[in-house]
Amino acid sequence: MKKFIDLRSDTVTKPSEAMRKVMLNAEVGDDVYKEDPTANKLQEYAAELLGKEAALFVPTGLMGNQICLNVLTNPGDEVICERTAHIFQYESGTPAKLSGIQLSLIEGKNGIITPSQIEPLIRPESAYYMPRTKAIEIENTHNVAGGTVFPIEVIKEVRQLADKYNLFMHLDGARLWNASVASGVSVKDYAGYFNTVSVCLSKGLGAPIGSIIAGDKSIIDEAFRVRKAIGGGMRQVGIIAAAGLFALQNNIDRLKEDHYKANLLAEHLSKFENVEVDMASVQTNMLMFKPIGMSVDEVLNRLSNEGILAGQGGYGVVRFVTHLDVSFDEIERAKQILTKVFEG
Ligand SMILES: Cc1ncc(COP(=O)(O)O)c(C=O)c1O
Repeated sequence: MKKFIDLRSDTVTKPSEAMRKVMLNAEVGDDVYKEDPTANKLQEYAAELLGKEAALFVPTGLMGNQICLNVLTNPGDEVICERTAHIFQYESGTPAKLSGIQLSLIEGKNGIITPSQIEPLIRPESAYYMPRTKAIEIENTHNVAGGTVFPIEVIKEVRQLADKYNLFMHLDGARLWNASVASGVSVKDYAGYFNTVSVCLSKGLGAPIGSIIAGDKSIIDEAFRVRKAIGGGMRQVGIIAAAGLFALQNNIDRLKEDHYKANLLAEHLSKFENVEVDMASVQTNMLMFKPIGMSVDEVLNRLSNEGILAGQGGYGVVRFVTHLDVSFDEIERAKQILTKVFEG
């Protein structure tokens, strides 16, 4: 079988031998009774890492985000977020389906939304005929913007605004680890500005399944109820929690290697006249580029014929994501293929 260089997403990683070993040997119990020692250990470890009172293991990033939004809001409320935020674009309308809330959208730059954009959208408390603004959501790193880092200074200003209007803040930190490694700001410092945080273990960190949500104990107690109510109460979950714990303990620092690899590909691509790459947006493990004179489908087909799997980033945009299952040799081979496709 042909071995592809798989740059579609950092979700395609497979558990390493060492990770599989800890999974095999994990101590387990019934987590619906809160008796799974490995899940409990993972939750305590993650809460400490994120500087929160409590944390909860959930199967997916989507479920993590949506449980948090559910806990923070009531039906009819509104949450402000960026126009291409994952919670708006790629979560199957779950804010409406699960929580009966609506989203108020802002066009961001590199995924960043600022207090001067947010403030005019906050509904006046006296306007009983309008939805209630309840929370502001931020995505860091921002997927559709190309894995861009949301600056901590701006997050601080948004928090000040949220406090002024008594609003909650939720962080979709599916790739918060990448933001932290790229910026040097700790995940704890980022998380400190938010009431709820959702982080993924199954993306760049290489675990097969799982996300963590974190916040005050009262919020996580409620999240535990919501997780059960929507079918997310798992039993001997330590088998996968062990992989998550291994990922947190071993695979954060190495993300800088993924960032370097994305940068190598971006620099190579930027040499071609029929490719547009915004180098300023290449900050972590993703890279978006616009082919000129070729459709995205055509590029994806040609790349696939030569051995690279890639994805679509947005309209007219090709997306590459580097991860722990792409070696330096494969990056070199990918560069040769790109030369063939764009210069050949
Ligand atoms: C920014 C962001 N948030 C949330 C998710 C959802 O994660 P999951 O696929 O585990 O539901 C993703 C998935 O790619 C994502 O990129």
